[in-house]
Amino acid sequence: MPDTDTAAGAAARAQEQRPLKLSEPLKVGPYTLRHRVVMAPLTRSRAGQPGNVPAPLNACYYAQRASAALIITEATQVSLQGQGYAWTPGIHSREQVEGWRRVADAVHEASGLMFMQLWHVGRISHPSLQPDQMPPVAPSPVKPNAETFIENERGEGELAPCVTPRALQLEEMPYLVRQYWRGARNAMKAGMDGIEVHAANGYLLDQFISSGTNRRTDEYGGAPAQRARLLFEVLDSVCEACGPQKVGVRLSPLSTFNDMHDDDPEATFAYIAGKLNDYGLAYLHIVNPATASVERGVPPEERAQRMIDLIRRTYRGVLMIAGGFNGQSAEHWLEAGTADLIAFGRPFIANPDLPARLFAQAPLNTPDPATFYGGGERGYTDYPSLAQERGEAPKAVIDDRWR
Ligand code: PHB
Repeated sequence: MPDTDTAAGAAARAQEQRPLKLSEPLKVGPYTLRHRVVMAPLTRSRAGQPGNVPAPLNACYYAQRASAALIITEATQVSLQGQGYAWTPGIHSREQVEGWRRVADAVHEASGLMFMQLWHVGRISHPSLQPDQMPPVAPSPVKPNAETFIENERGEGELAPCVTPRALQLEEMPYLVRQYWRGARNAMKAGMDGIEVHAANGYLLDQFISSGTNRRTDEYGGAPAQRARLLFEVLDSVCEACGPQKVGVRLSPLSTFNDMHDDDPEATFAYIAGKLNDYGLAYLHIVNPATASVERGVPPEERAQRMIDLIRRTYRGVLMIAGGFNGQSAEHWLEAGTADLIAFGRPFIANPDLPARLFAQAPLNTPDPATFYGGGERGYTDYPSLAQERGEAPKAVIDDRWR
C-alpha cells in the first residue's frame, strides 16, 4: 500500500487542507473582522504640509491596504506638544480631521475597517518640533539616550539626539487627559471605526508606566497602580468619547526601544493586564517581546515567553500581537492559542494585498528601509499587488475624490 494511504498520511493531508486559522473571522467590539491579519501602526512621515494634514497620497496608501482585517493608522499626535518626529499626522486641528475624513472614506469605500492610533511622544521629541521651541515634556526629567527625526533648515529630514525633558506638573495632568479625549472625539468625527491608545514603545504613557522614566513622588509615580494611573485616566476619557468597544490599547512589555527600562515588568504588566479586564475594550495589542526570536525562527527566550503567557493568562479579552511574524509563525501562534489576532508591520509596507498573499502562500515583496520615513509615492504607494504583478490590474492612482 502506498505510504500516502496510511492513517498518518490521511491525517497530514487533512491538516494541509484545513483552512488557516489566520483566515478565520473574529468578533472585535461591534465588528466582525473577516480574518486575523491586521495592519500594524506604521510611522511613514508623509503627512501633507503645512500642518501635518493627511493628504490624497495617504488616502491612496491606506485604501490600497483595505483588505487588512483591521487597519491601525500610523501613530497620530493628539496635540502640537505630542509630536516627536517631522511630518507625522495629527488629529488636533480642523484641517487634520477633514484630511482623515477623506482617508476613512477611501478605506470604507474599499470595504476596510480602521482604528486611529492616538499618540503623545512625551520626551521623545525635540525643541524644534515643540510649541515655542520648548523642551518636550515627560513624567520626570530623565534624558533618553535616543534620537528623533527633525526637519533641518533645508527642509530635509535629519536625526537629532533627544534632550532633557521638562517634568509635567500635577496641575497639567487633566489637560493631558483632555488631549486624548479630544483626539478620540476628532477621530470619530473623521469617520474612524475606533481608536487605539498608544501606551507602548517609550512614548508618553509608557514613560509613566515604566519605573526607569517615572521618578515621580506624587500619585502618578511609585507602585504600578500609580504609574499606570495616567493610562487608566486616559482610557476612562476615551471610552467616554467613543465607547469602550471601539477602544484598543497597545503596550510593549520588556521593550528597551527609546531607552526604556522597568525594575519589575512582571508586576507592572500583570497589574495593567488585570485592570484592563474592567473596561470591555475592543482588544489589547502587545508589541511582541519575542520579536527577535520570531524573526530568526527560534523559540522565544524564557523571559519573553513568560511575559506573553502572563498577559494571555491575565487578560480575558481579544489579544493582538505584533512583531516579526510571517504567515507561518502567525499561524503557529494562533494555533497555539497564544494570540487572537496578528498585526503585521513591515510586510504590509511592501505588500498592499498582504492577506491574499498569506492565504495563497504567495511570495512577498521586500520592503525598502530607505523609503520608510518621508518622501512621496516611491516605497509608499508603488508596491504592486499580485494582480498588478500579473498585469491584471492597473497601477494605483491618486483619486481626485480624495482631494
Ligand atoms: C518611529 O517613528 O520610529 C516610531 C513611531 C511609533 C512607534 C515606534 C516607532 O510606536
